[in-house]
This record gives sequence, structure tokens and C-alpha cells, in this order.
Amino acid sequence: MALLEVKDLSFRFSNGHTALDSVSFSVEQGELLVISGKNGSGKTVLLRCLKGLYRPSGGSINFRDTSIGLVFQDPDSQIVGQSVERDIAFGLENLSVPPKEITEKTLSVMEALNLVSHAKQRPRTLSGGEKRRLTIAGVLVMDPSILALDEPFANLDYPGVLQVLEKIVMLKQEGHTILLVTHELDKVLAHADRLMLMDSGKIAALGPPQEASKAAEACGVRIPADLMSIEDMTWLKR
Ligand SMILES: Nc1ncnc2c1ncn2[C@@H]1O[C@H](COP(=O)(O)OP(=O)(O)O)[C@@H](O)[C@H]1O
Ligand SMILES: [Mg+2]
Repeated sequence: MALLEVKDLSFRFSNGHTALDSVSFSVEQGELLVISGKNGSGKTVLLRCLKGLYRPSGGSINFRDTSIGLVFQDPDSQIVGQSVERDIAFGLENLSVPPKEITEKTLSVMEALNLVSHAKQRPRTLSGGEKRRLTIAGVLVMDPSILALDEPFANLDYPGVLQVLEKIVMLKQEGHTILLVTHELDKVLAHADRLMLMDSGKIAALGPPQEASKAAEACGVRIPADLMSIEDMTWLKR
């Protein structure tokens, strides 16, 4: 049974713009679903509807005993703490989790995301890749059953992309269910179980990367011509 079932989901802004138009798909336990499409195709609006930040105009979103954690595209809009460890602990503190448990969980996600040596550092002094890993840690510490990442590679340099991609692949291997929104397919598609392409608020293609990626160019998503196969579509060394 699917972890998340979305049926005929629509969303219209108050100015009349339809950002999502009858979107239906499901998410299986443990899968990495890459969601792509050009700017304005509705990817961020979709994640915001799933997270409950936007109320859909129509359709349904059904979670099976599931919570979704959303990592925003802009790290600065998500970081609130005065230090890395304080920032990660913030969400748990709001839930009045016992201090000992907060310390343990915070340490555990700092270890997972290579942030231990930065524990006392002020978040705004972190590099782009470190900052992105901090926002992932801050969401992961809440133990969501689905991790949703909005453009996790945006504004990162080469090492930053590698740091973040490495962690995403590690989380998938640990069994996490991940929704990854990106228009940069060449960085990550090799690791995806399925690819969903969006165009003008609709699903233009959904399926195994090999199949679905055939519709990429038509949806305004570029696949570099020198990539011979889906397996090449990763920035990690193989
Ligand atoms: N607050 C808003 N009011 C009106 N239209 C919006 C608003 N936010 C986004 N949109 C429009 O909704 C569409 C989908 O946006 P978005 O989901 O952010 O696209 P992307 O796929 O780039 O993440 C775009 O055409 C965008 O202009
Ligand atoms: Mg977006």
C-alpha cells in the first residue's frame, strides 16, 4: 500500500492562476521520486499542498500514518537557531521533547549529515552545502516518514552539490522515502526509482526514469547530450 496517495489535486491562486491541474500519483515506501519540470510548472506549489501550507482547490491528499518534512529551496527561510545544534533542536523543543532525547536526536542527525564539527557555529557563517545539510538535518530530526526536498542543489557549487547528493543517496539507502524536486536531472536521476515530469500544473510523464525522461526536453528540462544512459546521470563518482 502506498504511503501517500494524491488524487485529482488542483490548486488555483486567488488571482485565478491554476498552478496544479488534476494531479494524481502515489508514493511508495522507500522510493526516491524525482519531480522535475521547468520554472513555474507547479513543483513548489505541489510540495506546499502536500505539506499543508496551501489548501487545495480540489482533489484529495491521503497519507497512511505519515508525516511529511519539507526542506525549502531557500535555506535562510528555514534556519532559525543561533548555532547549528540549536537550530536542529528547535523543532523538538517546540514539541516539548525531553532535553536528553533532544540532545541524542540532534547529535544523531549531526553525525548523519557531517555537521558535528560545526555544532557551535553560527548558521549564517556556513557554506552553501553545509547550510543545505543543516536544513535537511532540521527536518530529519523530526523523523518524518516522507522527506521532501525543494531544489536541494540550487545555488550550490560543485563540492556543495556532492555533499548534499551524497547524503540524499545515503538517506535513501537507509530506507527513507524521498520526494526530490529539481530541474537538474543530470545530478541525480541515476538514483531515482521514478521520475515525474510536470508541465503547466499537470503531470506530463510519470514512470521509470528510462521511460519518463524521454518527455524531458518537451517539458523544458534539459538532459545533457553527452549522457548516454540514465546510469550516467549522477554527479557522484562511480
Ligand atoms: N503567490 C502566487 N500567486 C499567484 N501565482 C503564483 C504564486 N506563487 C506561484 N505562482 C504561480 O504558480 C505557478 C507554479 O509555481 P511554482 O510551483 O513555484 O513553480 P516551480 O515549478 O518553478 O516550483 C507559476 O506560474 C507561478 O507564477
Ligand atoms: Mg519551485
